[in-house]
Amino acid sequence: MSPVQGKLNKRDELRLLVNSRHPVITIETTEEERVEQLLFQIGTELDVPVYTWSVTKGLARFHGEPLYHTDDPSQALANISIINGDAIFLLKDFARYCENDKICRRLRELGENFRTARRSIVITGANMVLPPDLEGDAVPFVLGLPELEELFSGVRQTLADLNRDNHVPISLDPMSMQQAAQALAGLTKEEALRTLRLCVLSRGKADPAVIEDLLEAKRNILRGEGLLETVRRDSSFSDVAGLARLKDWLGKRKSALTAEGIKFGLVPPKGILITGVQGCGKSLAAKAVAGEWGFELARLDAGALYDKYVGESEKKLRKGLELAQKMAPVVLWIDEIEKAFASASSGGDADAGLSQRLLATLLTWMQDRESGVFLTATSNNISALPPEMLRKGRFDEIFFVDLPKAKVREALFALHLKKRGRDSVEFDLVKLAASSEGFSGAEIEQSIISGLYSAFALKKPLSTEILLAELLATQPLSVTRAEDVAAIREWARTRAVPAD
Ligand SMILES: Nc1ncnc2c1ncn2[C@@H]1O[C@H](COP(=O)(O)OP(=O)(O)O)[C@@H](O)[C@H]1O
Ligand SMILES: [Mg+2]
Repeated sequence: MSPVQGKLNKRDELRLLVNSRHPVITIETTEEERVEQLLFQIGTELDVPVYTWSVTKGLARFHGEPLYHTDDPSQALANISIINGDAIFLLKDFARYCENDKICRRLRELGENFRTARRSIVITGANMVLPPDLEGDAVPFVLGLPELEELFSGVRQTLADLNRDNHVPISLDPMSMQQAAQALAGLTKEEALRTLRLCVLSRGKADPAVIEDLLEAKRNILRGEGLLETVRRDSSFSDVAGLARLKDWLGKRKSALTAEGIKFGLVPPKGILITGVQGCGKSLAAKAVAGEWGFELARLDAGALYDKYVGESEKKLRKGLELAQKMAPVVLWIDEIEKAFASASSGGDADAGLSQRLLATLLTWMQDRESGVFLTATSNNISALPPEMLRKGRFDEIFFVDLPKAKVREALFALHLKKRGRDSVEFDLVKLAASSEGFSGAEIEQSIISGLYSAFALKKPLSTEILLAELLATQPLSVTRAEDVAAIREWARTRAVPAD
């Protein structure tokens, strides 16, 4: 997918900050090398020298020898004050030294003088906490994850290096290199290139098949982070019985996310909410969209968002959403969305405040995001969801999944019998469907599973009769929880579109 037209890239954005004479710029990141490279490029473009400082190396001109004795933070600042003219100073991990009053004061004074020249101090660190005095003078810059373009040039460079240094044969054309970059999207640059090296070296070559390895490696890395899990696409619409309207709706919109569709003027869909009766295929359908569209599937684990430290949960959510954006085109799946974003009005406790803030973060993102991420959310209890989320325009459509009708029940039996290696023509599907009125898809699947046990115990093949006996012995949820089902239906009648 092409980057959004007219959007500033990160280099332009940072150059603008330097150019507009911000004395202190902070960047919260672990990717120091990327920052260094960006600043070096900007320095070259603006013809401004770049200095770097770290507590181990002291102050040095980029690629130059360190100045004597400048590993001491206050000495470094003293040296900065006597370096004349335009300059960019990158101070690594400097925030922690600013807790010292003298250093903090000195930095602020330096900053004052900086406003008259093109001089900027850039402070990086994995966790940026500045003393309040300094906070006002500093402007934060969000580095974010690398753009596709940056990954692409990194991939090209890394492959060239591997070819030169390790004599690894490379048979990737620019198109496949682009796909490799896409496969790595969502990782930091360092992680991405390390993963690439690892996968290529273990294959002994870089051929198009390496792309699947990259995806798998990325899934593992992201799983480790625990927030956004990329799941192997293992289902498509052929695994879902019924839900014809939902499938049709999705089928029509597939092309809107492709470059051709966008060029044609199709408005990219943002997402759908699937609600309805339990066990009728909501989660299954939400997952299947990715397989059907050929996109990656990323699951946002709502439970993993909760963090005891104030502000951390929102930060995590923002990070997860940014990650998804970087992985575009992707299907972002939030299962049982009410669990994380339940109506905050339901209680006055601390948790309610937290889910309110999480909700605000999600809604802002849904409002402002770029295209390329299709959100499929499911909910078992939509009445627990805050009205803001359901307001027109948040989701393209809200679908209601009801208990399957007779024809769909036939399809459910056929599908799940086949899944267990049975030929459905040997079964009376019409009779089975007629005897399973009020059963959900999950319950029909369950009747086959228990039928298999019974048949095995009887030393007989699985038959229609055995399945009918299982159905007869089962009380479906629609009977035991008739009131709940009626309530969901009533709710959905006016607010949602039937999925079938
Ligand atoms: N429409 C359907 N088509 C195929 N299988 C279904 C369908 N509905 C339910 N199932 C089966 O039941 C299981 C549970 O369904 P699920 O999608 O998790 O239900 P929900 O999310 O609506 O509670 C599925 O994994 C699938 O095996
Ligand atoms: Mg579900």
